[in-house]
Amino acid sequence: MKYLIANWKQNGNIEFTKNWINGYYDNHDFNIRNKVNVIVCPPFPLVYVFKECNLQKPKNFVKVGVQDISSFKDGPHTGETGVGQLSTDVKYIIVGHSERRKRGESPKLINEKLEMLIGSDKTPIVCFSSIEEFNMITKYTENMLFAYEPVDSIGTGNPASIESLHYLKDKTGLSEYIYGGSIDKNNFADYLSIDFINGFLVGGASLDPISFASLTDQIFETYKDEN
Ligand code: 13P
Repeated sequence: MKYLIANWKQNGNIEFTKNWINGYYDNHDFNIRNKVNVIVCPPFPLVYVFKECNLQKPKNFVKVGVQDISSFKDGPHTGETGVGQLSTDVKYIIVGHSERRKRGESPKLINEKLEMLIGSDKTPIVCFSSIEEFNMITKYTENMLFAYEPVDSIGTGNPASIESLHYLKDKTGLSEYIYGGSIDKNNFADYLSIDFINGFLVGGASLDPISFASLTDQIFETYKDEN
C-alpha cells in the first residue's frame, strides 16, 4: 500500500474545508488506484465537516485522519481528544510530529500515545526527524507507519536529498517509510521513483486543492499497474 497524506496543520476553517473539497474533486477526473491511500488530516474541529463534504462527492476516495491524539483514554485532561472519541471513519493518526515535539512533546509521551493506540482500529503515522529520535520511539512497532520528516526540510522548500533517504533507510533498518518535507508538484516525481518510500506527508502543498490533486494524479499514475 502507498500513502499520500495531507497534513493541514493549524490551517483552514469550515469555509476553507468546503471550498477545498469542491476544488479537489470538481472538474477533476481521478483514475483511482486501490493500492494508494489518500488521507487528509485537518484540525480536529474540521474532521466532521471534511467527512460530510467528502461523502457528498460521487468519487469520495479520500480518507480522513487526525494530527494528534491524547495518551489518555478519557478524563480530566482539558483540550485533549481521546481515541475513543474519534469517528470510526478516522483510521489514521499522526503521532509525534516535530511541530509538537517543538512544543515539548517528549519521546516518553509519544510512546504513551502509541501504547494507547495498540489494539485500536487506528493506524499511527509515527513521525521522526532523525535516527536518534527514531531509536527513542520504537518501543512499539506493530501496525504503524513511520514517517521521516527532517526539520530542515519542513516548510523550507528544501526537500531531503535522495542520498540522505538511502542513508536513513540503512541506519534505521526500515524496509520502507513515508517521507515528508517540502514535497510539491514540481519535485514529486523525483521522490515517487524511490522504491522504499511508501508514502508522502505533505504540509504546505496540501492546502491548495489543485496542487494536492496534481500530487494525487502523479501517485495514481505511478502505481497504475498495481490495481
Ligand atoms: P511541508 O510539506 O510544508 O514541508 O510540511 C511537511 C510536514 O510537516 C508534513 O507533516
